[in-house]
Amino acid sequence: MKKILHIIATPRGDASRTLKVSGVFLESLKKKYPACAVDTLDLFKDAIPPLTLRAVSGKYTLLAGKDLSGEFKEAWRDIESHITRFLLADAYLISVPMWNFSIPYVLKHYIDTIVQPKYLFRYTDKGPEGLAKNKKMVIITSRGGDYSAASPFHAYDYQEPYLRAVFNFVGITDIVFINAQPMDALGQDVAEEKIRQAQTIAAETAGKF
Ligand SMILES: Cc1cc2nc3c(=O)[nH]c(=O)nc-3n(C[C@H](O)[C@H](O)[C@H](O)COP(=O)(O)O)c2cc1C
Repeated sequence: MKKILHIIATPRGDASRTLKVSGVFLESLKKKYPACAVDTLDLFKDAIPPLTLRAVSGKYTLLAGKDLSGEFKEAWRDIESHITRFLLADAYLISVPMWNFSIPYVLKHYIDTIVQPKYLFRYTDKGPEGLAKNKKMVIITSRGGDYSAASPFHAYDYQEPYLRAVFNFVGITDIVFINAQPMDALGQDVAEEKIRQAQTIAAETAGKF
């Protein structure tokens, strides 16, 4: 493995429970692949281009099978550079807390930016084809409540199914989720224990990556 792109979707820095688990994953990964570069994209600090009329019109130009030119090309400069950065990685780590049963808006904005026809997917006679092939992904989440399969709130988890669907759509099917939960509902002691458990799974996952 040459390069992993770490996409951070929490603004909480050192206070982040999600990043406590991701930190262990990255430490263990470094031991296994000492030469692996980690490219960090912090979605609460790094600018993601606004999806203006021109930017979105570029998407429809590509969907119509035409190339971008003139004002569209200009509007797409930053979008293309994010897509290139995404495709340069051969693996991904996404650190993402659950926000309102789903993902923080910055991650949705990033996904809306990079998931573009001709670059990450195309339509064929046999249906859509994802173009980000042979890539691996680990998604580390933390949640205030518990949304595991045994929980009565399992059906409220729109985070894991959505992220699986959108990354499968672009061709990434090798996805491992590590969910630290509950972080808020049952108090500090339970949260700390659940973080430790998630860290153990994160180290094992990195060892097999
Ligand atoms: C805006 C916002 C929305 C949240 N929505 C949910 C939610 O729908 N369900 C839940 O279980 N926790 C929710 N939480 C709690 C976080 O998922 C939880 O505290 C998580 O551990 C935060 O991760 P972090 O420490 O990495 O930022 C929300 C927190 C914030 C700030």
